Amino acid sequence: MSLIHTARQVRENAHAPYSNFKVGAAVMAASGTVYAGCNVENVAYPEGTCAEAGAIAAMVAAGETEIAEIAVIADSPKPVSPCGGCRQKIAEFAKTDVVVTLATTDGTVEKTTISALLPGSFDADYMSRT
Ligand code: THU
Repeated sequence: MSLIHTARQVRENAHAPYSNFKVGAAVMAASGTVYAGCNVENVAYPEGTCAEAGAIAAMVAAGETEIAEIAVIADSPKPVSPCGGCRQKIAEFAKTDVVVTLATTDGTVEKTTISALLPGSFDADYMSRT
């Protein structure tokens, strides 16, 4: 099953009663295992979590810390792009050339990389004096 297909399926379970914008994400870890996540909103709006965050949390909970590939899908007019916070979350576990697939439920797909999405990212090197 393709990453997009997994993301499309898990998107159905999104809890998005406030935005009505369901998002699905699927991460393939270094082992080849795929972890899925959807956005989970909350009536206290800032407590909501993104689909990517859910997929990454599932991966880490399973004992894996390397993203080999990631895909995100939503019912958007153009392929949905991860928010800034999710870009940083992906970068935590992905090498710079990791492919990020962005998709619409209509079938439009775009491929990019985490380094293209998050140039000049903050990383542990900046803390090397501490
Ligand atoms: N959302 C995601 O799940 N991932 C993103 O990268 C963009 C935004 C969710 C958060 C919120 O539940 C809804 O989409 C509208 O912003």
